[in-house]
Amino acid sequence: MGASAPIFFIKMLTDIISFDQLDTKTLSLIFKTADGIKKSFKNKKTLEILKGKVITLLFFEPSSRTFSSFASAAKRLGAQTIEYQNPMQTSSAVKGETLEDTIKVFSAYSDLIIIRHPEIGAASRAANVTDIPVINAGDGAGEHPSQALLDLYTIREQFGRLDRLKGLIAGDFLYGRAVRSLLKALCLYKNNSIYLLSPKELSLSKKDVYLYKSRGLKIFEIDSEKNIPRDCDFWYWTRVQKERFKNKTASNKIKAPYLSTALLKAKGNNKMIVMHVLPRIDEVDREVDNDLRCIFLTKQIKNGMYVRMALLKLILK
Ligand code: NCD
Repeated sequence: MGASAPIFFIKMLTDIISFDQLDTKTLSLIFKTADGIKKSFKNKKTLEILKGKVITLLFFEPSSRTFSSFASAAKRLGAQTIEYQNPMQTSSAVKGETLEDTIKVFSAYSDLIIIRHPEIGAASRAANVTDIPVINAGDGAGEHPSQALLDLYTIREQFGRLDRLKGLIAGDFLYGRAVRSLLKALCLYKNNSIYLLSPKELSLSKKDVYLYKSRGLKIFEIDSEKNIPRDCDFWYWTRVQKERFKNKTASNKIKAPYLSTALLKAKGNNKMIVMHVLPRIDEVDREVDNDLRCIFLTKQIKNGMYVRMALLKLILK
């Protein structure tokens, strides 16, 4: 039944809403497709495989990287885009149109919708009212599956595996949707251990800790840089998502983990990589950028485009 296998995977890859939908076979297919695209790029081959397709980007929340890398991925594959940034100010949403109606309208104009929205579950609501594929580009404090895909792809590229990894994730686990998807992703592979560094106010909920542990991930919650093990394969930093706090004064008082050259020296090792979900605000010293282990403004960013190209190709071709 070998020949029918890819059709099965591609059928699975209709909507990308949560990492709960993905399994290791589907992930391997996405990563191999991204490898192929990356290679074609190195050989300067143009890829016009989505010529004639129209992709809508509907971003109800601010975005630089996710928006632009999806737009770039679509265009580099020969597709055209309808781009809505901030529709709450520029579209009929401002007149009170429901999300469901907006999705139905854009479904008539395009072949796929990529949506970012401030509410948890918005991407799933969108997928429920349309027959065209929907990709969740971040739903409030819910999930951000394409970010986790590029993070995983970057780790795989560095270490050649996605199991037996030891990682540190630092920052905001209360509102960090990318972290939530990344943790679900790491659960899919055996023997991964994750150290979560955050102040108490930003820690992962007990329910989430239980969920990831029950899926086989070893989780160690730490509240001091002193407790970072020296042998991590990767560090993954995140900012505090201040815009999601109701009480701004309280959010300003939170002391987020800080990544400095001194910390890298004290707790790092030679084979590790340092990633960041971006945007970086003030939680990482700019000096750290000069360290070759820090790949968040280099490899990680580029991989985002290749992985998103792979996703669009697999879903639409
Ligand atoms: C993240 C997001 O929007 O969830 N950014 C991104 O997509 N690269 C994280 C963040 O905003 O801090």
